[in-house]
Amino acid sequence: MSRVVVTGAVPEAALDKLRAEHEVDAWSEPVSIGREELLRRVAGADAVVSLLTERIDGELLDAAGPQLKVVANVAVGYDNVDVPACAARGVVASNTPGVLTEATADIAFGLILMATRRLGEGERLLRAGTPWKWGMFFLLGSSLQGKTLGVVGMGGIGQATARRAKAFGMDVVYQSRGEIDPAIAQELGARRVDLDELLKVSDVVSIHCPYGPGTHHLIGAGQLAAMKSTAFLVNTARGPIVDEAALAEALSTGVIAGAGLDVFEKEPQIHPALLTLENVAIVPHLGSATVETRTAMAVLAAENVLAVLRGGDAVTPIG
Ligand code: GLV
Repeated sequence: MSRVVVTGAVPEAALDKLRAEHEVDAWSEPVSIGREELLRRVAGADAVVSLLTERIDGELLDAAGPQLKVVANVAVGYDNVDVPACAARGVVASNTPGVLTEATADIAFGLILMATRRLGEGERLLRAGTPWKWGMFFLLGSSLQGKTLGVVGMGGIGQATARRAKAFGMDVVYQSRGEIDPAIAQELGARRVDLDELLKVSDVVSIHCPYGPGTHHLIGAGQLAAMKSTAFLVNTARGPIVDEAALAEALSTGVIAGAGLDVFEKEPQIHPALLTLENVAIVPHLGSATVETRTAMAVLAAENVLAVLRGGDAVTPIG
């Protein structure tokens, strides 16, 4: 029997799977596990199931000890995991691709609708008890039909968002490190362009690339200035891909029309200007937050742990 440390609350289905084969030490308090407690608990662990709020770095791997075999991150993004540090110690790192694709694309599209149709603004107005009545020019937004969605990062989530855009009558352009399956590009009628062209032609820019040194502040003041003044920016990937201060400035000065954000540069903090601007929809990192999806993510992480501890390969290794 090996010892598995789980760094935060996860659905029971995943814990049941782990407990059937191993001793499980799961942090289940409503507050996040602190760094000190985390370092103490991982000592002697054979496997760690980590949440994206925990930093898995050399210090933590060393605190765990040389018997550690696998770190299973319960997220598709793994910017919280130092993958080379894992590799250097022979620790397998895994993530949870695939199972959260549709849920995250749903939130991306929800934010597109919230921003372009001013839904948050309308809701705030009603909740504030502001007098209103139907009016020809009351809270007019922008239609999506016939407009262009620019997808930055055309992996599974980007493609799923593009598929939703197509159903809404939008054209799709995308920027991607690699070619995508030509059959999918054809199905979506999606054209590959570079980032400069994407920013210039898109009415909505939706970010779906991974975060890393190469994508830090990929969208900054210059990129925002290159967008149409009528365009919207949506980010459901990772906050630091966008320079949040530059975005707040662009939103308040009319450089772009609006934005929808599920992720923030310094979560859980939010740039104070974003809290006061009417033309940005903000939600608290809910991309994968459905019962079904979170269960599937945690179960996949558990399966990764079990596969490695049985001596096999991880199901969804990183890299
Ligand atoms: C969520 O943000 C994830 O990366 O899964």
